[in-house]
Amino acid sequence: MTLSNFLTNFDLDMETLIKILDYSSDEIFVLDKNMKIIYVNDACKKHYGLNKEEVMGKLSLELVDKGYWYPSIFPDILERKEPIMIKQTTVLGAELLTSAIPILNEKKEVELVVTTARELQSYKMLKVKEKDSDQSKETEDPFASIITNNEKMKNVLKFAKKVAAANSTILILGESGTGKSVLAQYVHENGSRKNGPFLTINCAAIPADLIESELFGYTPGAFTNANRSGKKGLLESVDGGTLFLDEIGDMPLSLQAKILQVIQEKKFIPIGGNKEKMVDIRIIAATNKDLNEMVANKTFREDLYYRLNVVDITMLPLRDRQEDISPLTYYFLYKFNRKNEMNKLISKDCLQWLTYYSWPGNVRQLENLIERLVITSDDVIGIDDLPEGIYNHSQLKIGKNAPTSLNEAIELAKKEMVLTSYKLNRSSRRVAKDLQISQTHAAKLIREYCQDLQED
Ligand SMILES: Nc1ncnc2c1ncn2[C@@H]1O[C@H](COP(=O)(O)OP(=O)(O)OP(=O)(O)O)[C@@H](O)[C@H]1O
Ligand SMILES: [Mg+2]
Repeated sequence: MTLSNFLTNFDLDMETLIKILDYSSDEIFVLDKNMKIIYVNDACKKHYGLNKEEVMGKLSLELVDKGYWYPSIFPDILERKEPIMIKQTTVLGAELLTSAIPILNEKKEVELVVTTARELQSYKMLKVKEKDSDQSKETEDPFASIITNNEKMKNVLKFAKKVAAANSTILILGESGTGKSVLAQYVHENGSRKNGPFLTINCAAIPADLIESELFGYTPGAFTNANRSGKKGLLESVDGGTLFLDEIGDMPLSLQAKILQVIQEKKFIPIGGNKEKMVDIRIIAATNKDLNEMVANKTFREDLYYRLNVVDITMLPLRDRQEDISPLTYYFLYKFNRKNEMNKLISKDCLQWLTYYSWPGNVRQLENLIERLVITSDDVIGIDDLPEGIYNHSQLKIGKNAPTSLNEAIELAKKEMVLTSYKLNRSSRRVAKDLQISQTHAAKLIREYCQDLQED
């Protein structure tokens, strides 16, 4: 039966057929002989964070070059002209099992390539279910790398990879929630110590004396309440690995001196002891505080600052990498759908709304929001599901009311200036002075624009 016969027999039109294909959880991908993508179904969204429209019509290699997935199935398929199956990794970190089938013409040239891709994770999940255990659900995150689409961030990662190979101390800076802890882990995993231990100490969360005894350990009878046989410090357990000192700006001064010694001389003395112990530890530190200012205020040791700052890496705030919002959103959607055994989608409008929000809490805020939306929304997360704070503050909303002519823009700016000045000054005389206009003019503008304010 031909396809058109099939369609007429079942009274299906093309639109319905495309709808059916979109319901497939496997990705279906068709290329012409020039390797141009002539069809892809909706599954591309969850695999690459791209909409169909952004994929169709593009050359497959163009998207491979941009890093949306790798490796490419070419030139293999063109050379072998027979079905192949490979594992691919996407920009969102999904691992796909992709099978490609070439369709040949009479001259045995490749006319079309039909590709289907399914997430390997779904096979793994089946296996876990067979074993009747879900232990790997939390731990086996298929997204082992850091998600980004932003050129500056890609350079940050490239740089981090480079310095990971050396053994130097690294200071990671950036606003809260930008991914400093994720980067620390990334450095560890890309360095020569990747098989050694990685330990995080959060200097803000643990009381100073506890950090000290945990890190350095103590000798028998070092202090009252101390364990009688003494205690081995964490520094010894991290020997050969990486110690990540998170929120180092909150580390007390007394401890700063001891840490400096570990970095400089690779040795330390347990509390109550007198014998030095040697350790080989790489230190990565992170903070969202301004250490420079802390040095000036003498709340952070200058020598430790310079020692840590040999290599510094700054994570960009999310608002400065808008192109990351879409892939991150899809990644978190995938993550929380999986965690909650759901299959929520997100509308295009809603995604746009998220893109134009300023994200003061950065990636963590986005992650928390998606977790909440997956649980609270209906099948498709839409603009109406957004909390008011995000809805009202998305630039898109402001953008929707944006002026369309120069005169309208001037009028809006004028109104904004008068309103702001009047709110601050509350008198036509002071507004006149502030805006460098005559008092009569100011009074007229206030009557025009600030009616609401005058009444209350
Ligand atoms: N590029 C990224 N890809 C995937 N997940 C990310 C990325 N960046 C951050 N995250 C996730 O966002 C959350 C916040 O990241 P992280 O804890 O590394 O931020 P931070 O800068 O250390 O924040 P804080 O200063 O508050 O400690 C984490 O759950 C992390 O897994
Ligand atoms: Mg952190």
